[in-house]
Amino acid sequence: MDLQLQDKIVLVTGGAKGIGEAIVRAFAEEGATPVILGRNPEEAQGLIGALGRGHSFHAELTDVGQIESAVAAVRDEVGPVDVLVNNAGVNDGVAIGATAAEFVASLERNLVHPFVLAGLLLDDLKAARGSIVNIGPKVAETGQGGTSGYAAAKGAMNALTREWAIDLAAHGVRVNCVAPAEVMTPLYENWLAKRPDPAAARAEIESTIPLGGRFTEAAEIADLVVFLASGRSGHTTGQIMYPDGGYTHLDRAYAHDP
Ligand SMILES: NC(=O)c1ccc[n+]([C@@H]2O[C@H](COP(=O)([O-])OP(=O)(O)OC[C@H]3O[C@@H](n4cnc5c(N)ncnc54)[C@H](O)[C@@H]3O)[C@@H](O)[C@H]2O)c1
Repeated sequence: MDLQLQDKIVLVTGGAKGIGEAIVRAFAEEGATPVILGRNPEEAQGLIGALGRGHSFHAELTDVGQIESAVAAVRDEVGPVDVLVNNAGVNDGVAIGATAAEFVASLERNLVHPFVLAGLLLDDLKAARGSIVNIGPKVAETGQGGTSGYAAAKGAMNALTREWAIDLAAHGVRVNCVAPAEVMTPLYENWLAKRPDPAAARAEIESTIPLGGRFTEAAEIADLVVFLASGRSGHTTGQIMYPDGGYTHLDRAYAHDP
């Protein structure tokens, strides 16, 4: 299947590690030009070097000034952006009872930069009749406990997916969201390492994943992101998709009943 992504410029936030890295790899395999925006400049440069295509720009995404400078540099040095993937975020455990400042800081880590980037890239996306793919989590649907800021931010990402899909439909720009549940990444490993017994915690989580009793591979998230960004999903917009082995929506008791 030709995904029609050859030489498309795809900006991926947090593309140096984890799910973002898998997304960058998958776009590069399709002949697109991935542009990593985020921290970890050494890892990002290493990845781009290994792939033999793409670019990396450094920005702390909680700093709007750094985002603005980086976007200007991307336009100057690479060109107008066809696809925006809002991937960077962190489950930072800002719980009910935290201060207003801590809550706002969590929104800055998870929600404000996707909004800022979509605005800065609006003209490019319209001109390209391009697309946006947001990365949400199942937490926006299920709750998790102890992470109000992240849940609120990601719930808002789901809402913005539909809001922007309407805003941009007249311009041929599609907006969709991919919501992972359990994917082993550096972020997830850090979280798991803080459990009293990480191996037991992992096994317990895996036992609740209906399809295969396993974590989702980052590449399986990336494949869906690439498809949604491609011209081959040309009439799909405003959708939130869950490549999670049925974790979020299936009845787990039934899934394990032979
Ligand atoms: N791993 C999972 O199981 C899982 C589940 C649900 C949702 N998600 C979502 O997937 C996305 C990626 O998660 P991951 O597990 O790959 O995370 P990760 O921490 O492994 O990688 C995220 C990358 O983004 C960068 N980044 C994050 N915040 C940044 C900021 N403010 N400025 C600059 N760079 C920043 C990090 O430095 C890192 O390179 C996140 O939005 C996360 O909420 C992950």
